[in-house]
Amino acid sequence: MEELRGIVYVSSATVDFSMEELQELADKAAAANKKLGVTGYLYFEDKSFFQYIEGPKDVVQSLMNHISKDTRHKVVNVITSDSLPDRYFPSWNMRHLTKPALVKVKMENVIIEYIDSLSKMGLQKIEGSKINIWNMINKLSKMQLQLSGIYQ
Ligand SMILES: Cc1cc2nc3c(=O)[nH]c(=O)nc-3n(C[C@H](O)[C@H](O)[C@H](O)COP(=O)(O)O)c2cc1C
Repeated sequence: MEELRGIVYVSSATVDFSMEELQELADKAAAANKKLGVTGYLYFEDKSFFQYIEGPKDVVQSLMNHISKDTRHKVVNVITSDSLPDRYFPSWNMRHLTKPALVKVKMENVIIEYIDSLSKMGLQKIEGSKINIWNMINKLSKMQLQLSGIYQ
């Protein structure tokens, strides 16, 4: 079986995004990711993006490199899984999560703050704390049924 990898990152938008532009970005990403076999989601708030992508190891890594070169944002922190036994979001090509959905699940803000505070402490600490971040992603994945319901 193909080895899977998951990557989460936080980035800062370098340009202003309207809701329409954001939706267009997410739609294009969803279509491209579907072809690549990449799943995950994208969240945007207060000029920060939070994206989680998962799929075949090499595909996800090259997609991340590609996304990092996009001048519409600047990647602040990237955290890569060592190994991923299963996909957390098998049915989400690139779901665009908006605030109303996440008002129910406040996990994202928790993770953003957590990663931010870790980065201020230095890299070594991030390595040791990876497990906590993956636990949070794991918890969030368990809520995907609840989140999916909002969009049905
Ligand atoms: C925050 C953010 C997230 C993105 N996520 C994806 C993604 O998941 N998949 C994807 O194909 N492109 C994504 N893109 C768009 C790519 O960076 C790039 O613009 C797109 O793939 C078109 O690339 P090209 O102009 O080289 O064809 C994202 C861009 C931004 C700013």
